[in-house]
Amino acid sequence: MQRQPVRPFRSRDWFADPARSDMTALYLERFMNYGLTPAELRSGRPIIGIAQTGSDLSPCNRIHLDLARRVRDGIRDAGGIAMEFPVHPIFENCRRPTAALDRNLAYLGLVETLYGYPIDAVVLTTGCDKTTPSGIMAASTVDIPAIVLSGGPMLDGWHDGELVGSGTVIWRSRRKLAAGEIDEEEFLQRATDSAPSAGHCNTMGTASTMNAVAETLGLSLPGCAAIPAPYRERGQFAYETGRRIVDMAYEDLRPSRILSRESFLNAIRVVTAIGGSSNAQPHIHAMAKHAGIEITAADWSDVGYDLPLLVDVQPAGRFLGERFHRAGGVPAVLSELLGAGKLDGDCLTVTGRTLAENITGRVATDREVIRAFDTPLKEQAGFLVLSGNLFDVAIMKTSVISPAFRDRYLQHPGAENVFEARAIVFEGSDDYHHRINDPALDIDEGCILVIRGAGPIGWPGSAEVVNMQPPDHLIQRGIMTLPTLGDGRQSGTSDSPSILNASPESAVGGGLSWLRTGDVIRIDLTAGRCDALVDADEIARRRDGPPPPVPASNTPWEELYREKTGQLADGAVLDFAVKYRGIAAKTPRH
Ligand code: FES
Ligand code: MG
Repeated sequence: MQRQPVRPFRSRDWFADPARSDMTALYLERFMNYGLTPAELRSGRPIIGIAQTGSDLSPCNRIHLDLARRVRDGIRDAGGIAMEFPVHPIFENCRRPTAALDRNLAYLGLVETLYGYPIDAVVLTTGCDKTTPSGIMAASTVDIPAIVLSGGPMLDGWHDGELVGSGTVIWRSRRKLAAGEIDEEEFLQRATDSAPSAGHCNTMGTASTMNAVAETLGLSLPGCAAIPAPYRERGQFAYETGRRIVDMAYEDLRPSRILSRESFLNAIRVVTAIGGSSNAQPHIHAMAKHAGIEITAADWSDVGYDLPLLVDVQPAGRFLGERFHRAGGVPAVLSELLGAGKLDGDCLTVTGRTLAENITGRVATDREVIRAFDTPLKEQAGFLVLSGNLFDVAIMKTSVISPAFRDRYLQHPGAENVFEARAIVFEGSDDYHHRINDPALDIDEGCILVIRGAGPIGWPGSAEVVNMQPPDHLIQRGIMTLPTLGDGRQSGTSDSPSILNASPESAVGGGLSWLRTGDVIRIDLTAGRCDALVDADEIARRRDGPPPPVPASNTPWEELYREKTGQLADGAVLDFAVKYRGIAAKTPRH
């Protein structure tokens, strides 16, 4: 007897609706032109979408063009029918003015595809930063069974016998260039050596972080996130992922059954333990919002901040993706947290089993790379959540605070973790690049570099520009890092201890809009405060003046994005979109 799904497949409504045989004929006929038969499409087997994020424009995910073959094999072997379709391209490094515009756009497109076509379940192909959250956001809105397949990081990069990791090598080499230690040619060589194969960033940047988050949320097969793209396990996981999604379709195992507040809190914990990207904050909030789950800034303080850094991978540590994978990857990190009572192991996952069941016996095999919970690389390594008169919420990634930075700013007798700095305010990154070396600014080690106009509305999209490096003359004196603050983001591969994602941003009247160069900013990391020492009357007077300028929208989407998108603290989602959830329960009309 033919296997029966828990709930009838929605594709039946297209291909086998007895009441509308006229429409059924129309729906069926064009699939014939690449060789499918009516019998296959009407066999009652589930149609499994492969949401293809790889393309020539999305090189980080391009491996998925090959992996899809193995996904299809798995889908066929398990009794499904695969239909692959393109997702709006997202390429973090190349998309101007920022790939942040694409997360919500890819989300919108994917929702329409999953809703409007005869798709019963979907494989979300992920890799480059925003490809993971956009897919998961869409899967929650539509709420059909969905499984995440990471494309995996590139192989480790090497240059002159030294590990060079994607992104991180750029930030580090920029400082060397400014210090006069390397020339442009060497800069280019180091950058290209960091990208030796197919795959996404090999550092613990946003890509690897978000794939680790997806695995922690229970949305991918255990061990999926960290397998380097060229490794043979990648193809094997693609096959197993294809097999598993067919069963999930029969079981009706949808994101709404897997995602919970507990699973998102687990994700926050894992971000600390791996030294993950600060972009995880808006993305986790966005995914939670679309899943109808409340996650707040306080959650990052309450469950994430006190946890230790366990993973020695750049930018917080030394190694890269291959070593992390061989050391046991995400399951080994989860095991450490679970063993220490810092993980909710009862959360359901795509395997149909709990997170704890999935990772039984998966301990780290290389303690140099994945530390035991009680011998970590750093204590209290989570994101510090700050507030004050310049913003309601901003975060600081503490796992990348270097000993030199700590000594200079955070170790004053009697005032530990408190410092004051003179603000140098830049209107976006062009202004920063034009003026950072201007002697008139008189920048010294007592300054904090501030950038505004870099948030979702101001940029638009929110840009990774807060990790500003000091002027050349300070770098030449060995001062590699100044405190920085901004309403934009920073690259997940950056090793700069910035205060970022400040919300509300200056473009919507946040406190940064009235800040001026020369104001003193007081930062108290213990109290979680960041305030400009400007009195209330003066603030009111400045607020009467015109706000800082923002550039006009250059495309239709930029305009729409600005109209509909919220702040980074809330995930920068399309606010009106989060009320749409579980929409696949009702099939669209003929
Ligand atoms: Fe695509 Fe880093 S630029 S993964
Ligand atoms: Mg990035």
